[in-house]
Amino acid sequence: MVVLKVSVALCGLLGVTQAFGPAARSIVHSTLVERGGDLMPEYDYVIVGGGTAGLTVADRLTENGKNSVLVIEVGTFQNGTAVTTVGMGFFGITDPTLFFNYSSAPQPGLNGRRIDVIAGQILGGSSGVNGFQVHRGQKEDYDRWASYFGRKTSWGWDDVLPYFKKAWHFHPPSKALAKQHDIKYDDKYWGKTSNIHASWPTFLWPSLKSMMSSIGEIAGVTYPPDSGAGLPGAFWYPHSADPGPVLRSFARTGHWDGIEAARKNYHTLTGHRVLKVTFDKKGKAIGASYVPTGATSLASARSVKAKKEVIVAAGTLNTPKILQASGVGPKKLLRDAGIDVVVDLPGVGSNFQDHPFQVGAFFNFTNFPFHPDVNDFFENSTFLAEAQAEFEANRTGALTIASGNCGAFLPMGVIAPDTFKDIARRYEAQDPAAHLPAGTDKTVIAGYQAQKKALAAAIRSKGSAFYNFFFRGGYSEGAIVYLHPLSRGSVNINTADPYFSPPVVDYRALSNPSDGDILVEFVRFTRRYFQQTSLKKFNPVELSPGAHITSPADIIADVRNRMIPSTFHPVGTAAMMPRELGGVVDENLLVYGVKGVSVVDASIMPDLPGAYTQQTTYAFAEKAADIIKSRS
Ligand SMILES: Cc1cc2nc3c(=O)[nH]c(=O)nc-3n(C[C@H](O)[C@H](O)[C@H](O)COP(=O)(O)OP(=O)(O)OC[C@H]3O[C@@H](n4cnc5c(N)ncnc54)[C@H](O)[C@@H]3O)c2cc1C
Ligand SMILES: *[C@@H]1O[C@H](CO)[C@@H](O)[C@H](O)[C@H]1NC(C)=O
Ligand SMILES: *[C@@H]1O[C@H](CO)[C@@H](O)[C@H](O)[C@H]1NC(C)=O
Ligand SMILES: *[C@@H]1O[C@H](CO)[C@@H](O)[C@H](O)[C@H]1NC(C)=O
Ligand SMILES: *[C@@H]1O[C@H](CO)[C@@H](O)[C@H](O)[C@H]1NC(C)=O
Ligand SMILES: *[C@@H]1O[C@H](CO)[C@@H](O)[C@H](O)[C@H]1NC(C)=O
Repeated sequence: MVVLKVSVALCGLLGVTQAFGPAARSIVHSTLVERGGDLMPEYDYVIVGGGTAGLTVADRLTENGKNSVLVIEVGTFQNGTAVTTVGMGFFGITDPTLFFNYSSAPQPGLNGRRIDVIAGQILGGSSGVNGFQVHRGQKEDYDRWASYFGRKTSWGWDDVLPYFKKAWHFHPPSKALAKQHDIKYDDKYWGKTSNIHASWPTFLWPSLKSMMSSIGEIAGVTYPPDSGAGLPGAFWYPHSADPGPVLRSFARTGHWDGIEAARKNYHTLTGHRVLKVTFDKKGKAIGASYVPTGATSLASARSVKAKKEVIVAAGTLNTPKILQASGVGPKKLLRDAGIDVVVDLPGVGSNFQDHPFQVGAFFNFTNFPFHPDVNDFFENSTFLAEAQAEFEANRTGALTIASGNCGAFLPMGVIAPDTFKDIARRYEAQDPAAHLPAGTDKTVIAGYQAQKKALAAAIRSKGSAFYNFFFRGGYSEGAIVYLHPLSRGSVNINTADPYFSPPVVDYRALSNPSDGDILVEFVRFTRRYFQQTSLKKFNPVELSPGAHITSPADIIADVRNRMIPSTFHPVGTAAMMPRELGGVVDENLLVYGVKGVSVVDASIMPDLPGAYTQQTTYAFAEKAADIIKSRS
């Protein structure tokens, strides 16, 4: 095997290195291999997917210099401005080459609309294209997940908190900024050793202060001591940027090119797609089979062996596809696709969830006394030019802001004090099979029943946030996210072409009517916030749904028109739950019914946290690495 080392600077200049030079080289400090034929025949661990979780685990497993690890990633090394730029938060989305982009099944609950299903498809995965917001769930989320095992497991809040600290290097906001905006933070919830950075802009939009203080006028809204305290309320939170150069900090920079010394035992094959995990006759994983990205037939497939374990980290959309294509999944589906069944595991691909977006209401402040505001980026070229000049000269100013640093994460008792108990009661009384697809396996139904009990308790609790409003800092606001949707979808192989066709993604958005009950309250609450707090002095005018839409039926009809069932936070398709509850992996992340295969990405979350998903994904990957090391 030829391994040539070149400097970071040279690699930076070259950008994508696919077409250049010899077969393999080291970009500080994993060895990047570009052709399948140049791999070693065997590694201790083969990691499928070099994304957020995959690279975190790869870094930790190779740290001691002993384990040999191969990461296989369908995307490539990408370091252009679409990936690195912090300012405005969503630069990545402008470059379609950085994404998987599938079309969902038509959504009957959304008037038949299909949704663009996207996730990062580069080395670093979704952490390389995400919106930078860094928040973790509430304590109750982790305790709920642990409770599905019906006894004490090592995944409750107290157990995972050390991994949140390990996963992130927290940099406090400047004293001046914290004072100016009343930013509460407490670094006891954070660590300082990770190469993944959580930092702050140097400037914040002036209107945010009013958004944050006005929400506190609503009964029950609290301000927790830190975004990482595991409590709902209104809070400020950092974003995933390296504060020195003000560039995106993500799994690739932190756990791949950012590691301290070259590691001969850490290999990465980019530009190759894993088709399946291969098994021996006893159901023990042998390795993985892969093709160059873009290949459309099995003729170009090669295999690599894993001595200890195959670790699947392809993300919530592709992990179930790979497991199913390997013969691990619902028996009938696999047979329909002509795949030999290794284990009948009905939970693989079921229980799919994402955070619905564009729910609630949008308001426009028509008496808006603040300058500048976030819209000036798009509407005031003088402002934008000044912000660019400041950023280039000093790495400060408005272009150090990504997609947002504050918002409200509120429990149902605050959103709907008069109705939340009824909503919980009606939801809890449902027949668990009633809103799942016909023919759903009984273990999956049992899992849904367990979630229903736990989520009904969450609706009643002061400790679990359902409503999220992230404040942008402009004259129009309404970025509202539904944190615990109750409908469940699926992600499955296309039985006509299980290996090369994209997965079939069905959100089954609003299939559970209790979601409608909750979203009606989101609209009502949002109106209360704009019209009955100090915000009213800015003359808020309702843009959507529109003041004339008041009855629950009309509100739901409007939501069906505009809701997007994804904020790009898919989870749940390889849930860490008991097998009798439709689970796919156990508490040690091992896939049920086979040997030597684990899953470590966001797909293991049994349901959604009351927060976006990157922080939890990194923390769980850190914990996964310890678990995997401890069994070797
Ligand atoms: C546009 C966008 C905005 C977001 N904004 C935020 C935010 O502001 N805050 C937040 O907390 N979260 C956000 N998220 C969510 C967060 O980034 C994800 O939850 C998290 O990164 C998921 O990590 P993962 O390891 O599960 O998957 P990923 O990081 O997606 O990794 C999966 C990897 O597997 C690779 N892969 C897939 N199939 C194969 C195959 N067959 N063979 C080889 N490799 C394969 C993929 O290319 C990818 O690199 C956002 C996500 C997106 C897409
Ligand atoms: C990625 O790009 C940034 C900004 O241009 C640069 O500072 C960094 O060195 C690059 N990283 C690599 C590994 O090339
Ligand atoms: C996904 O594809 C659709 C069209 O099919 C396009 O409109 C959209 O911009 C794409 N999204 C991304 C992130 O590339
Ligand atoms: C929204 O408010 C802005 C700023 O106050 C104003 O310029 C704009 O005309 C308003 N738009 C609508 C549709 O009300
Ligand atoms: C545009 O921004 C500049 C610089 O901040 C400011 O002086 C000017 O008043 C703004 N113009 C408008 C129309 O808001
Ligand atoms: C950069 O910072 C210096 C020192 O604070 C300041 O004098 C200068 O105006 C800034 N440059 C720009 C372009 O904002």
